[in-house]
Amino acid sequence: MSQVAAVVGASGYAGGELLRLLSGHPGLSVGPLFGASSAGRRVGEIHRHLPSLSDQVIEPIESGLWSGALAEADVVFLALPHGHSGTIATQISEERGPVVIDLGADHRLGDPDAWSTYYGSDTPYAGEWTYGLPELPGARDLIAKSRRVANPGCYPTGVALGMAPLLADGLALARDVVVVAASGTTGAGRMLSASLLGSEVMGSLSAYQAGGAHQHTPEMVQTLSRAAGSGVQVSFTPVLAPMPRGILATTSTPSAPGVTTDDVRQCLVDNYRHEPFIRVLGEGNWPRTADVLGSNSVHLQVAVDAAAQRVVVVSAIDNLVKGAAGQAVQNVNIVLGFDQGAGLAAEGVTP
Ligand SMILES: NC(=O)c1ccc[n+]([C@@H]2O[C@H](COP(=O)([O-])OP(=O)(O)OC[C@H]3O[C@@H](n4cnc5c(N)ncnc54)[C@H](OP(=O)(O)O)[C@@H]3O)[C@@H](O)[C@H]2O)c1
Repeated sequence: MSQVAAVVGASGYAGGELLRLLSGHPGLSVGPLFGASSAGRRVGEIHRHLPSLSDQVIEPIESGLWSGALAEADVVFLALPHGHSGTIATQISEERGPVVIDLGADHRLGDPDAWSTYYGSDTPYAGEWTYGLPELPGARDLIAKSRRVANPGCYPTGVALGMAPLLADGLALARDVVVVAASGTTGAGRMLSASLLGSEVMGSLSAYQAGGAHQHTPEMVQTLSRAAGSGVQVSFTPVLAPMPRGILATTSTPSAPGVTTDDVRQCLVDNYRHEPFIRVLGEGNWPRTADVLGSNSVHLQVAVDAAAQRVVVVSAIDNLVKGAAGQAVQNVNIVLGFDQGAGLAAEGVTP
């Protein structure tokens, strides 16, 4: 029998992608759905690409709390703007309640100062949460023992999966990490914003929140520092790309003396040999966002720039799948003991 998954924030981009993945999941069924301004509307009015759910009504979030619908679900996915998940999670019993997967940032950072610096409020952290990036060393076992998983951010997912093994194995040096990453517009969510209008975005690339201002910076620092075993500094420049989905991240850091392109490629190949969603591309092939769209895959390529003495890793993910909803489903699969790939595809939909 299927286990019931409730989605809070079902009207958003990440919520909609969760619904798409859940509707094809062999062991989970779509349960009650909740939203804010969309409460009372049918899924079919908002997500026209989901015909099997079109008649289901989105309910107000508060009703999920007072009616007990959230507490009675087997799994609750929280896909809300930052600062909102903590409030809801604290009202669901940690011992007897459902598995909770937070797609927002509220439970990702261990350092409360980093939270207040980048998110501008007191930490909403409540309870025990596990950072859910399954392919990092040791992470899958921790996730399997958890009832609450903080799903990583989209940019940090692409960056960490490329660079963490190289830092952990000492092939890349733990200082001066530079990240330039381009994202499609869904990365900013569905809320109306003039800077995201088609006429502003089409035909143009634009940098934003450069100079250490982007809120994903401390999450990259946290994950890469854990991998390196020492503090890492990250300079991150995000770029808005004129496409709906996808992230292409280029990450570089000084290479250890004598390290070659063959060494760093072999390191990634060895680390990810048994990972169904991570593909180190053949020599000479560089990642393209089009190849991972709709899939939970990460495509990686790496080179050592001998003249500059830097390792350069390029990763491509779909921000709404491996960067959000797909990773959330992968995490819940691990917690509930399903195959980690249940309901997920490694194949993309290009062109
Ligand atoms: N988009 C991505 O690529 C991506 C990747 C990784 C993680 N995430 C994270 O996932 C979360 C959702 O992102 P998104 O892109 O899906 O955003 P979104 O498209 O803007 O959707 C936000 C959702 O939250 C609800 N909501 C909005 N304001 C609310 C409020 N004040 N109180 C309670 N609920 C509210 C919205 O409900 P109504 O529509 O009914 O108002 C909607 O369902 C965010 O924390 C984001 O950082 C997003």
